[in-house]
Amino acid sequence: MSIRAFVEDGVETFEAKIDGETIQWDKGLSYAKHLQTEQLLSAQIPVSDKPDEMLFIIMHQTMELWLKLVLHEAKLVVAGIRADDLDHAGKTLDRIATIQRHMIHSWEVLATLTPHDFLTFRGFLRKASGFQSHQYRELEFLLGNKREDLLLVHNDDVAAHERLTAALGAPSLYDELLRLLARRGFPIPASHLNRDFSQPYQPCDAVEDAWLAIYSDVEAHWDLYAFAEKITALEYYFQEWRFKHMKTVARVIGQKMGTGGSAGVNYLVKALSLSFFPELWSMRTRMVAPKEGPNYADPPAGSVA
Ligand code: HEM
Repeated sequence: MSIRAFVEDGVETFEAKIDGETIQWDKGLSYAKHLQTEQLLSAQIPVSDKPDEMLFIIMHQTMELWLKLVLHEAKLVVAGIRADDLDHAGKTLDRIATIQRHMIHSWEVLATLTPHDFLTFRGFLRKASGFQSHQYRELEFLLGNKREDLLLVHNDDVAAHERLTAALGAPSLYDELLRLLARRGFPIPASHLNRDFSQPYQPCDAVEDAWLAIYSDVEAHWDLYAFAEKITALEYYFQEWRFKHMKTVARVIGQKMGTGGSAGVNYLVKALSLSFFPELWSMRTRMVAPKEGPNYADPPAGSVA
């Protein structure tokens, strides 16, 4: 068992035979240095002496890391839409969907926290709550759930407040998508292209008509149609994440209030009716079967489509 030291590219380098392999490492960049594992792994600091708090902390931290990546990728999607580059933006949306499915599945780990386990340390959490997650809010703002009052809990965190204020006032992913539809010749009203982006989005018939036109002639608008389905998946998975959070919370705290002060599960249920891309959903009700082709027919009069 020996280590051979040498210099490669001006960097002190080492080599050893381990398990029949020639393993190398150097002083230029190590795994720990690149991934900052020391900082990362020293950031789990329980506020209680209860063993189940570690799961609670690591669940939140891993979700925050995935949220960081989703935010990063979602900003690339917005930039892609702005640049009329749906190919690259579509690939990025596929990655986001895969991360979202992983995040949804990860609730299963937290579901092993029983009501008894949680109650051993709940009191130590005081008023700390996911409601105060600034990354989650930034993502909501970026996707289109604009709510100025949600900034209030970040009043004391100058950096987070600044980032959230910027995200609140900027066009959302959906705003950018409507601008793209306008560039493609769809009659999107000026009120929906140049609006006060810090205000909640108001659905409108003209936008619904545009999506309906795209979905009613998919061959003519294939890239927009395929892209719209990826955007729909983004909201679909976001809602599934919300649902699994709500259901896990119900399993752990029943109908108790949240540590953040809300009604708890009932508050989380309300969020299930939020929509980032409302007309992409409402348009589906108005769709009818194509008129042409051997396999299609108008539904018989009086039947439900
Ligand atoms: C046993 C574990 C958990 C419980 C009991 C719980 C409970 C709650 C409750 C009751 C709320 C409503 C606000 C409040 O009054 O506190 C909430 C909000 C929230 N939680 Fe959790 N949560 C848990 C785990 C998580 C995890 C792992 C995350 C991941 C980051 C998370 C993220 C959030 C977010 C982002 C909100 C705000 C939702 C919104 O405003 O729509 N929670 N949570």
